[in-house]
Amino acid sequence: MKSSRIYKREIQKIESKLTAFFSGKDPASLYDPCKYLLESGGKRIRPFLVLASAKAAGGSFKQVYNAALAVELLHNFTLVHDDIMDNSDVRRGRPTLHIKYDQNTAILAGDIFVTLSYESILKDCKANAVKILKTFTQGIIEVCEGQSLDKEFELRDDVTITEYKEMIYKKTAALAVMCCSIGAQIAGAEYKHVRAAEMFGKYLGLAFQIQDDLLDITGEEDKFGKKIGSDLVEGKKTFLFLKAFEKSRGNDKKLLLKIIKNKGIKFSDVDKYKEIYYRNNVIEDAKSEIIRYTKLALKNAESLPDYEGRQLMIWLANALIGRNK
Ligand code: IPE
Ligand code: IPE
Ligand code: MG
Ligand code: MG
Ligand code: MG
Repeated sequence: MKSSRIYKREIQKIESKLTAFFSGKDPASLYDPCKYLLESGGKRIRPFLVLASAKAAGGSFKQVYNAALAVELLHNFTLVHDDIMDNSDVRRGRPTLHIKYDQNTAILAGDIFVTLSYESILKDCKANAVKILKTFTQGIIEVCEGQSLDKEFELRDDVTITEYKEMIYKKTAALAVMCCSIGAQIAGAEYKHVRAAEMFGKYLGLAFQIQDDLLDITGEEDKFGKKIGSDLVEGKKTFLFLKAFEKSRGNDKKLLLKIIKNKGIKFSDVDKYKEIYYRNNVIEDAKSEIIRYTKLALKNAESLPDYEGRQLMIWLANALIGRNK
């Protein structure tokens, strides 16, 4: 069967499991906001990474459905709190939780998402439970560290591309590493295969975040589901910003300096900055970097033992390059 069809079929299963997971849970004040976010879609990349890695490492989907659910719950925690931290009003094409409800509700929704994610992954920890939970926990620690760096960088005027890469490794790639790792570990893979799956996750994750930065500029709001230009408005040190800052001269440089000084811009100025990015060719720089990392991800998938699982990983990595959401 084609990988794209397997993705659709498996994601459908994840959707039903997510719905079942929340059905009949009380109080509504806690769980309705969670359901609201989960119902609004999402690509479910992280659960798919768990499934594909388990398969590629020689295991089966059946072994890891609860772990797959767990990483999606965890991811939704990061989104809810990220939207508060980034002052984002729109996600997955709908008002964010703290806008639709209020900030306290959104904070608690994030908390329960993390807790339920532990409840869920525990169900799939038969052998190796301590090792798997350590990996899971390490993933969360890194996301928090990455998020902290992301906020710290907003206030700094000397962030380097190397520091940016460390930051996105933590805030985004580490979760992908964790997904691939626990998929392979639950499947009972030997160490070298767990490592290969993790490296696939690492490079896929790095490519994924640079593409997220890119779509923040080149995307269409109704597809991307988030407001275009938000990173400029918040004064984020994205790949595009840092590259443009490095390459630009004269007036462009002055305008970019203004973002740092004013800690962001107004939405009405986004188009002006888009032009600066295009003029300095940083859109192309971002695309090359995404392709470079995707190739590294693909290289690491090669050594995994199961053919069908490997195909799923290869398909996903290639499909993500063309994503518009
Ligand atoms: C958004 O993740 C957060 C980032 C790490 C860039 P996704 O783009 O996977 O969000 P959903 O789950 O599909 O909405
Ligand atoms: C994503 O960073 C990192 C997370 C831990 C959610 P962003 O702040 O760029 O994610 P989006 O663009 O809001 O989804
Ligand atoms: Mg953020
Ligand atoms: Mg954000
Ligand atoms: Mg973003």
